[in-house]
Amino acid sequence: MNVASQMPVSAAASAHTASVAKPAFLGFGLGLRAQHYDEILNGNPQIDWFEVISENYMIPGGQPLRMLDRIRARYPVVMHGVSLSIGSTDPVDSDYLAAVKALAARIEPHWISDHLCWTGIDGRNLHDLLPLPYTEEALQLVVARVGQVQDVLGRQLLLENVSSYLTYRASEMSEWEFLREVAVRADCAILLDINNIYVSSINHGFDALAYLRAMPKDRVRQFHLAGHSDLRGHLIDTHDHPIVEPVWNLYRAAVRQFGAVPTMIERDDNIPALSELVAELQIARDIQGSCIERAA
Ligand SMILES: [Fe+2]
Repeated sequence: MNVASQMPVSAAASAHTASVAKPAFLGFGLGLRAQHYDEILNGNPQIDWFEVISENYMIPGGQPLRMLDRIRARYPVVMHGVSLSIGSTDPVDSDYLAAVKALAARIEPHWISDHLCWTGIDGRNLHDLLPLPYTEEALQLVVARVGQVQDVLGRQLLLENVSSYLTYRASEMSEWEFLREVAVRADCAILLDINNIYVSSINHGFDALAYLRAMPKDRVRQFHLAGHSDLRGHLIDTHDHPIVEPVWNLYRAAVRQFGAVPTMIERDDNIPALSELVAELQIARDIQGSCIERAA
């Protein structure tokens, strides 16, 4: 934990900028899914990079890793984990971290990300990305654990905001204040999921633009975009639909605020042909292009 962890929230936020330089703009990517392996390898589609779910490639040998090696030979990749459980009170899983590090050594990702959440406790994994109570106590726990993880990996971690369906009475600050403070105090970076902000803003009734405004510009290194399901006004982050117009609008606002940030689309169910996702990615390219052109 660094000195900033002893500061009050507002002082720490204003006193820090990211200590690691922003990487070069990587462009527009897609989540790598097994259904698309052949289309990618046979067609060289216009995708700038792929995000891979780290856990899918941690078993040595076998088909997934062989395919990843072939795709990595042609495209940049980034690693995205779902099992770090940075908010748990269980000890950080050193075997898991060693596997992340070994995969990173093999495929040389441009960056490694996971989620600001907890996924289990007392050795039990609930296989869900659960929100934290936004308290000073939880903040200090997460900051310390991010420090541990970054020390082991020898690089800065990106943490992603999750969508949520509940809040805690114990919370002492908003989600965006908590995320910003984690990033500043732990000196980590942020993967901002635009759809997750939108989903949670509808479910909990907060202002999505206020969330964006609270983010430290120099720490936002990647955007996620995705579709969701609307259950009569209650939104579920299902990644099984195209991106909806309100999320595109929020993306426009994000681009106007943060500039050119590498952007990718997550699709995990009802997975369409690759060409459909490439076309959806083109919408993101067009939005980013026009917003930046207008700003210039
Ligand atoms: Fe995401």
